[in-house]
Amino acid sequence: MRLLIKGGRVIDPANNLDIIADILAQDSKISRIAKNIRAEADKVIDAKGMIVMPGIIDMHVHLREPGREDKETVATATKAALKGGITTVLAMPNTYPAIDSPENIESLKRIIKKSACANVLIAAAITKGRLGKELTDIQACKQHGASAITDDGASVDSGVLFAGALKKAKAGKLLVICHSEDKKISNNGVVNQGLISTRLGLRGIPRASEYKRVQRDIDLAKKTGARVHIAHLSCKESVDIIAAAKKKGIQVTAETAPHYFALTEDALLDYDTNMKMNPPLRSQQDLEAIKQGLKNGIIDVIASDHAPHTENEKDIEFDRAEFGVIGLETELAAGITELIDAGLLSWLELAGKMCLNPARILEINKGTLSAGADADITVISPDKGWQVEKSGFVSKSRNSPFLGRKLKGVVEYTIYEGRIAYKA
Ligand code: DOR
Ligand code: ZN
Repeated sequence: MRLLIKGGRVIDPANNLDIIADILAQDSKISRIAKNIRAEADKVIDAKGMIVMPGIIDMHVHLREPGREDKETVATATKAALKGGITTVLAMPNTYPAIDSPENIESLKRIIKKSACANVLIAAAITKGRLGKELTDIQACKQHGASAITDDGASVDSGVLFAGALKKAKAGKLLVICHSEDKKISNNGVVNQGLISTRLGLRGIPRASEYKRVQRDIDLAKKTGARVHIAHLSCKESVDIIAAAKKKGIQVTAETAPHYFALTEDALLDYDTNMKMNPPLRSQQDLEAIKQGLKNGIIDVIASDHAPHTENEKDIEFDRAEFGVIGLETELAAGITELIDAGLLSWLELAGKMCLNPARILEINKGTLSAGADADITVISPDKGWQVEKSGFVSKSRNSPFLGRKLKGVVEYTIYEGRIAYKA
């Protein structure tokens, strides 16, 4: 199978490439990039006026399978991913049962083999049942194909236990993804603590619940030499702590999600539960710090934290509604609208955060259009506008914080392993 993509604006941060060129893919690999490639192809895409960049790698996705197939499945999530220009997702282990053993990894692998239409990598749990009491067999999880370990949704409260996990991860060369939250400080809060929480009469989550735990996680990373990735940064202090750690040469990378650079706690003023997630939407000052962190490279990755929930779990009193928002189908457009159009990031920089850096962190041969890399490619009409509507989602769930918003950027083609897997 030969696929030729002609005349697009090719964006490849690994090679610092931003040029009008053709791309030839053959048998699931990138064959070459050049101007006016003359080659026989089984399929030709005219990409004039379009952006051609590596398939997006979303390293924070809740697939909900096994156990909560009413919210999402591997099949529906990967279909939604393709529509969003995403070709690889990293599945979080907070399923039922949790992905906390070689057996559970193997059974998830069977589901993926049967029903995934994009690449699915697996994050295993750090502790059994994600309960923070007993470590999983980290080495065995790695041997069975786990790409990282995390208790996402929760942090391992015991510093001793977490340090033990980091030592094992270091020995096994495994990435540790930190959901950095001190739940004692969060104190069952539901929105950011501040004027808005007071005005709404809702219990607040202090920013300290995030940044104090970010500091602890980084201190332990330094002590153990493990490679840690801090998930879903939401506040200014966390960005400052990561900046200081990077300056000291500690092996840490950081991630944020589109809602933290596109929305603030002001969106909560009418108690919209689609704006409820953990960590919560913060203040304008935090949003600016997150944006600056993206600009100056302190934040390496944009990931969706796609967290589907049913209408029954969202369309209820604010306190009782589940935390989490979907993001696979809006993250690219949110990035284009809020970061590129706003003049903050270039296309090369955005592709760095969504393609190259996640690939490097996960150590996979993707996220680039270099010859020999996997032919996962996203073709985008950057100027097409659209309105986010409930009826437009492929995902099983509809709990998007961007409902009703106008965004820019439409995925025209998503190419996975050298074939057109999605077409608008
Ligand atoms: O908002 C969230 N939703 N934050 C988390 O940490 C977990 C996630 C979920 O699984 O729903
Ligand atoms: Zn998550």
